[in-house]
This record gives sequence, C-alpha cells and structure tokens, in this order.
Amino acid sequence: MKVAGEYYQTIWLDPQDETVVNIIDQRFLPFEFSIERMKTVYDAVQAISEMKVRGAGLIGATAGFGMYLAGLNASDNWKIFRRQMVEAADLLKNARPTAVNLAWAVDRQLGALEHAKDSSEARVVLQKTALDIAGEDRESCRLIGEHGVKLIEQISENKEGAPVNILTHCNAGWLAFVDYGSATAPIYLAHKRGIRIHVWVDETRPWNQGSRLTAWELAQEGVPHTIITDNVGGHLMQRGMVDMVIVGSDRTTSTGDVANKVGTYLKALAARDNGIPFYVALPSSTFDWNLKDGIAEIPIEERSGNEVKKVMGWLKDRFVEVSIASPESPAINYVFDVTPARLVTALITERGICSPSPEGIRSLFPEFSGILQ
Ligand code: MRU
Repeated sequence: MKVAGEYYQTIWLDPQDETVVNIIDQRFLPFEFSIERMKTVYDAVQAISEMKVRGAGLIGATAGFGMYLAGLNASDNWKIFRRQMVEAADLLKNARPTAVNLAWAVDRQLGALEHAKDSSEARVVLQKTALDIAGEDRESCRLIGEHGVKLIEQISENKEGAPVNILTHCNAGWLAFVDYGSATAPIYLAHKRGIRIHVWVDETRPWNQGSRLTAWELAQEGVPHTIITDNVGGHLMQRGMVDMVIVGSDRTTSTGDVANKVGTYLKALAARDNGIPFYVALPSSTFDWNLKDGIAEIPIEERSGNEVKKVMGWLKDRFVEVSIASPESPAINYVFDVTPARLVTALITERGICSPSPEGIRSLFPEFSGILQ
C-alpha cells in the first residue's frame, strides 16, 4: 500500500542493516506516521502486547521476525542457542492470546529450526522463514482480494452499478497484515476495477481501530467511506443502507466459528435479521484446526479497563489522554467475541470461498481432512 505516494509494507527487514526489523507504530495513526526499529525479541514482544502492531496477520509476521531477532542475539553455543529459542518462543506466544497466527508463526520457526545443525545455519533459516511468513501473508491477502471481489461485482451487477455499501468492523486492513488486508483486499480491488463502492467503517471502541486505522487506509486509497459509531450498523441495515458485511478474523475454528474484534457478533446478528450477507475474510494461517467450538474454546483477551474509561486523542500537535467515564466505576474490557458459524454466510480465503462448515473448509483445505472429521 502507498502512504503519501510511497510503497510500504507494515513490517520489513531494514535494507541497510539486517539486524533491524522496522514496523509502523500504529498507536499514533492517523496523526503521526512513526517507524520503529526492533532489534531484540523483547522489542517484538512489546510491540505486540502494547499494540504498536496488531491484527492477526501482522502479529504473526512480527512473531516470525521476533524469532529471527532472538536467534541473532542468542549464544553461538548450539545447545544454549536452542534453549534460548524455546524461551523466546514462550515469550512471544504469551504476548497476546487470541490471534492464532502468533503461535502458528512461532511454531513454524521452531519447526524450521529442527533442520539446522548449528547456530549460524539456524540464523539463516530463521531469517528465511520470517521472510516467507511475511511474503505468504501478503500473497494470501492478495488472493483473498481476487476471490472476494467477485462477491462485490455480483452485488454491483444486481444493483445495476449503483454503489455497493459494505460494512466492516475494526481494522482487517493493510495495517492488520503485511499488505492488502483481508476484509479490505476485495474492497481495494473492486475500487481499482472501477466498481462503485462505499464503506461503512465502525469506529470500534475502545481502541478505535476503525475510525483511526481503517478510515485512514481507505482515505489513502481514495475509497469512499463514512465512519459510524459501533451501534449504528443495525439501523443502517434496517434502512437498506448495507448490501454486505465483510470482517476479518483473529481465530477461526475448523467448524467455521469466528473470533474477531468485539462487536462482530452483534453485526452478524443484525445482518442475519435483515437478510444481509455476512462474510469473513481470512488467510489459512488464521484457522485453528484443533478447535471445534469457538465459544467454549477460543481464548478471549481481556485488556485493561482503562482502555474503556479513557481515550487518547490528538490535540493540535500532540496526543493527550482524557477520561470519559465515572472515575469510581469499574470497567471490563473483553476485546474479542465469537460469531458462530451459523451466522456466517461464507469464508473468503486465499484458496477461494467456502461455507463455514467442516465440509466447506475441507473442500478447500483437504490436507487437514484428518482433523476436520
Ligand atoms: O486487537 P486487534 O486490533 O489486534 O484486533 C485485530 C483486529 O483488528 C480485528 O479483530 C480484525 O478484524 C481481524 S485481524 C485481521
């Protein structure tokens, strides 16, 4: 994606110094475009837990590079090196609980290490695997765009070219992945192809990923959009102002239950009540093949209640934090929820579109048939 005319991925190896991995610190967007240099696995853990980087795909890519940085800083002694890598893996896996891409990327790095015979070979393997994880994430999102755009094209034809109104929640955009985004990839491609679209952007309290990040991305790409408060979607749907919903996912079970940013479930309920298709776009790295019951089994992150009671905002030239709630009252902050498969119209993946069911998922990912019984 381009920012002010210049191409960026959300994470990249520094071309001048390969011991450094660069990220965009998303906490300051859309007001400041700030690039941070990561040099250690601790930098990567902090970037994930403090949400400098966020979104399932990007969390996975950051974990992949975090393992690479851990390898660079680990002992040359092969036995100690391997022990340090296991410790680094634990640190990364505990940085945030819900997005399964995190554990997936760390395990992939640990698996790749099994083929190395000493620390210097391991460092080469870790760099290659980190770059592969990031490259595959980018390509998966590009393909999600190719598949998903057909759904938008169909609605556009049915509406005889009138704008297709798409509602999205949170940020499953370019900033949540390495490039393109999952939910936004079909949107960007439709816009590029000249299909008339308009995006309703849920603000996504309490962290405002929608109003700060998705809206900024769409503006950079010139996609018509409007920010709405989180509770407006149902009203818009009742008035015929939403043609489809596309959201992302942080973890999807082998049965098609979808964990995504809190509030997604309510949008799915409203969409079902109004006969509006509800799509979930995800790369296969977001499937948790071992889980069958999303509500019972997917760990839901709980963050500080302060995120609910305070907001960060931009005042002239700097960020300020203001309180927006009664100081005496406690607040609770569950940051994801689970939408059961029965409310999802279809999943859009890099291999195509399928029903959110073991059969549908198996048809695209036959290599997991053993698990998907
Ligand atoms: O808490 P976040 O910002 O890391 O949450 C992730 C998200 O942005 C959403 O849940 C998104 O829709 C899926 S991530 C591709």
